Amino acid sequence: MISGKASGSDAVNILSGSGKMDFNLDETHTLLQPSSIREHFPAIMKGKRICTNNAATTQIPQELLDMSRELYSQYDNVHRGQSSASIRITEKFEEAYKKIAAFIGSKDWRNVLLYRGTTEAINAVMYSLMTEFEDGDNIVTTHMEHNSNYIPWYALCREITPKFGRKIELRIAGFDRESGELDLEDLERKVDEKTKIICCTGASNFLGTKPPIEKIVSIGRKSGYQHPNGLSGSYVLIDGAHLVPNTPVDVEKMGIDFLAWSFHKMLAPVGVGGLFVRREILETLMPFQYGGDMIAEGKVTAEKVEYNELPWKFTAGTPNIIGTILAGEVTELIVDMVLGERYRHISKEERTEKAMEAIQEYERGLTQYLIDELTSIDGVTVYGPKDASRKTSVISFNIAGQHPMDVARQLDEVGIESRAGCHCATLAHHYLGINPPASCRISPYIYNTMEEMRYVVRAIGKIASA
Ligand code: ALA
Repeated sequence: MISGKASGSDAVNILSGSGKMDFNLDETHTLLQPSSIREHFPAIMKGKRICTNNAATTQIPQELLDMSRELYSQYDNVHRGQSSASIRITEKFEEAYKKIAAFIGSKDWRNVLLYRGTTEAINAVMYSLMTEFEDGDNIVTTHMEHNSNYIPWYALCREITPKFGRKIELRIAGFDRESGELDLEDLERKVDEKTKIICCTGASNFLGTKPPIEKIVSIGRKSGYQHPNGLSGSYVLIDGAHLVPNTPVDVEKMGIDFLAWSFHKMLAPVGVGGLFVRREILETLMPFQYGGDMIAEGKVTAEKVEYNELPWKFTAGTPNIIGTILAGEVTELIVDMVLGERYRHISKEERTEKAMEAIQEYERGLTQYLIDELTSIDGVTVYGPKDASRKTSVISFNIAGQHPMDVARQLDEVGIESRAGCHCATLAHHYLGINPPASCRISPYIYNTMEEMRYVVRAIGKIASA
């Protein structure tokens, strides 16, 4: 066991000297410069923390902390006041929707709805579609889902629709236990003309696997399912919680119907999640929540209620105003942090894509290093793809004979932040026969350095050899 609480660069010094590095991730050769990115984060600069639990939540940059304080001094409700303050904050709020839509490539900002997070966004899809399901329909999901993309569908099939006398089947596609890749043939076999929706992760928060979204969309399109709105083919919902923060995403090119993700995994505070919905579906979709602001002004009588225009039809009640503005801001801030003054001459879309590609490339370097080093330590099992280009930046592992909670605690003692447990990917842990269903996970983000990764490897090596 490693002992002695340490943090940040002090901690790095304690274990320095023994790490080997198979490739050069010299900052001068990468677009993303972690040293300049780190400057934005008080948790790192003042807190001296080794923030490597980013799949759970990321740290907040100083710019957003300052902006939040500033916004609260100008703050009023949105769509509910005639003061200059209310009008100004409403403009900023609506502008945030436009920034968020542009970030994911949605051609119309009104196709983006905002909820509390990925979980609420996926629940919104489930409740909005609930009345459309017909007896004998099925839903196809996978064994690598986060509980937020499994439990809502489980509840719909097992608990909700049976009460209305309808039987909906939940089919769960497997994955290769060795490689961690989705079994696409199994998924294709499970999809038929009664599959209303395919619900799949864009990047597993445990294995890291990134299933081939275009192939899944193609399987869905061919199913022949007939929706009441006249659309044909199974809808495809992608859980993008661990995809959007780390990868270039263009919903139009991907051809997906729904994309859900959370802003607290990409540097913004908790409390805001995006849901992209393809326009043809959105036009006939029932609201998930009913109440104020989602109705057309003055169009409420005892006989009839008319709804507001998109996207406000899906925003009942006072929304998370400041959270939304900060979420919009982060979609530009993250690009500026990565690119700085470079590439100012290209379009906003191209700049976003370049920055997200740089993030993906940088994280791949850190991830591949961790995979290569950890798999070579006796007693360590690393889960998911071993080729970092096939996964997002989560590295989940176990050490033979040690409980992952104990491993995480020992890592914390030397200042390394990790997460142990099932990471809400309980199905996948059971599918792999991991008993207890738990692992320890390190998840680097844009402010982590190779030096920190070497320190993490040495710490895990010491724990494994104890
Ligand atoms: N989904 C988050 C995680 O993976 C909470 O830790």
